[in-house]
Order: sequence, then C-alpha cells, then structure tokens
Amino acid sequence: MERIKQALEKAKAERDAAGGAEPAGARPKEAPQALESAAGPQAGLLQETSIAYSRTRVETPDTAHLRRNMVISEDGDRAGLTAYKMLRTQVLQRMNAQQWNALALTSPAAGDGKTLTAINLAISMARELGQTVLLVDLDLCNPSIHKYLGLAPGPGVLGYLRDGVAMNEVLVNPGIDRLVVMPGGLPVENSSEILASGAVGKLVAEMKSRYPSRMVLFDLPPILATDDALSFAPHVDAFLLVIREGKTTRQEIEHSLELLQNVPVLGTVLNAAENHHLPYYYGR
Ligand SMILES: Nc1ncnc2c1ncn2[C@@H]1O[C@H](COP(=O)(O)OP(=O)(O)O)[C@@H](O)[C@H]1O
Ligand SMILES: [Mg+2]
Repeated sequence: MERIKQALEKAKAERDAAGGAEPAGARPKEAPQALESAAGPQAGLLQETSIAYSRTRVETPDTAHLRRNMVISEDGDRAGLTAYKMLRTQVLQRMNAQQWNALALTSPAAGDGKTLTAINLAISMARELGQTVLLVDLDLCNPSIHKYLGLAPGPGVLGYLRDGVAMNEVLVNPGIDRLVVMPGGLPVENSSEILASGAVGKLVAEMKSRYPSRMVLFDLPPILATDDALSFAPHVDAFLLVIREGKTTRQEIEHSLELLQNVPVLGTVLNAAENHHLPYYYGR
C-alpha cells in the first residue's frame, strides 16, 4: 500500500509540474490530413477518416470466437451494441469537451470487466466515422486483449518497450475499420517498473499525437492490486473506473476513488448490471 501512496504522490507532483489543469496531451491542432487505409475496398468511402494501416498487420478474428467472448459486432446482439454505443457517446462527449484523447480503464480487482469494456468501447468508438482508436493492453502481468480478439500475442507492448521491436510489428488491425490494437505481449512480473519508465512516457506521447481524431484507450491492471495503474496515471488525460455488479464492494469503490482523487476520473461503468450483462455509465 505504501507503494500505491508513493505512486499517487508522484502522479500529483508530475501533474502539478505539468501545469495543473493542462491535460497531459491536448489533441494536435493541425487540420486532419488525408490518411491512407488498408481496410479494404470500401476504404475509399472513408478516406478522410480511416487511419493509415499500410504497414500494420491485419488479423481478422473468427466471428464465432468474438461472439463467445461477448465482443460486440455489427450482426451481434442489438442490446449490447446499443449499451456500448451509449457508453461511447457519453465518454466521447466528455473527452472531446476537454480536448482529451488518452483514456485509461481500471477497476478495483481482477475480473471486474476492464478488458471486455475496453474492447467493446474501442470497437464502438471506431464505428463512429471520423474517429480512429488505438487500444493498448497495459495489463502486462495478465495481458488478455489478444485472447478476446483471437489474435496472436505477438511481441506486443513489451517487445516494443523492452526488446526494441519496431512499432509496425507490434500493432494489429483486427479487421475493424479505424481500430488498431497493441497487444501486451507475454506476461511479465515487473510490470510497474516498465509502466513507470521514461520509455512508456515517450510511447504514449507518440500514440497521442501521431494521428488527429485518435482516441487512445489503455487497459490497465486493477488499481487495488498493484501500483501499476497509478504509476501510469501521469501519462493519460482521464480514467474510467469499471465496477462489477454483485462483485465489487462499496469499500473497494471508495478505496479506488480515494486512490484516484488527484486523477481526473471521467466516470464509473457499472458492468454486468442487473444480470442483463450490459454496462451502465455514471458520470462523476
Ligand atoms: N458484462 C459482462 N457480462 C458477462 N460477463 C462479463 C461481462 N464483463 C466481463 N465478463 C466476463 O468476466 C470475466 C472477466 O472479464 P474481464 O474483462 O477479463 O475482466 P478484467 O479485465 O477486469 O480482469 C470474463 O470471463 C468476461 O467474459
Ligand atoms: Mg483484463
């Protein structure tokens, strides 16, 4: 717990040093440039809004695998699509109002639904024309985005940060227009040291500024388990706290919000609400 406190103090100090209210990285002001897309024949229709994937590996996941893992798709469950669309719109409105584009998802404990929420929110955002999304797995002890999407783990974030693997070998387009995924790679034990390193700061700055109209989502480890999430806090504009109905306790929520008191929290997502498995968003 002492490490968490120290991380919190460090997060506050870094935020203060960066100018307090100034977001960690406002969107670039330049006009959007036309971007090349490798998303398929229909890409011509979306030329101004598609992200450049020309050197990004495309891995199209198996639809049945996605369905089994409750990943939303156009021909899937309508209620799920609608629920994540509502979440998306509320999150985008709040992020855009502040000109923020880096959002971290965490939750009190493992199994609350961070990863599924991050994936479905990212897909839902990418369905919006004019919005490109980069989804990054930073739960480095337990990387799992690739499992939900049926992708190979690849070198991932770890390969990029630790082993000098090139960015274009790390990014994957999972067959969804305007969405790019950076899997975590193989699980590690010293994730908080990696997340607190200067290399992570550079990587995030690069991700945030590379393309206009890009939202970057980070799937983080649980906030009460390690100091990983707080160590990473100075790099993002805001947090979303996922809690799970029937699992998360009131004490866990209070403790998590206490730890996040110096970090902008966009709101809370009540996951698996009322047994109909859909997320419900509360603005803070
Ligand atoms: N809304 C939901 N309804 C039903 N099952 C869910 C829901 N959200 C997550 N799950 C399931 O709960 C488990 C943990 O979810 P996950 O997103 O991996 O949690 P975390 O990333 O917080 O550890 C997974 O088996 C996932 O399929
Ligand atoms: Mg997870």
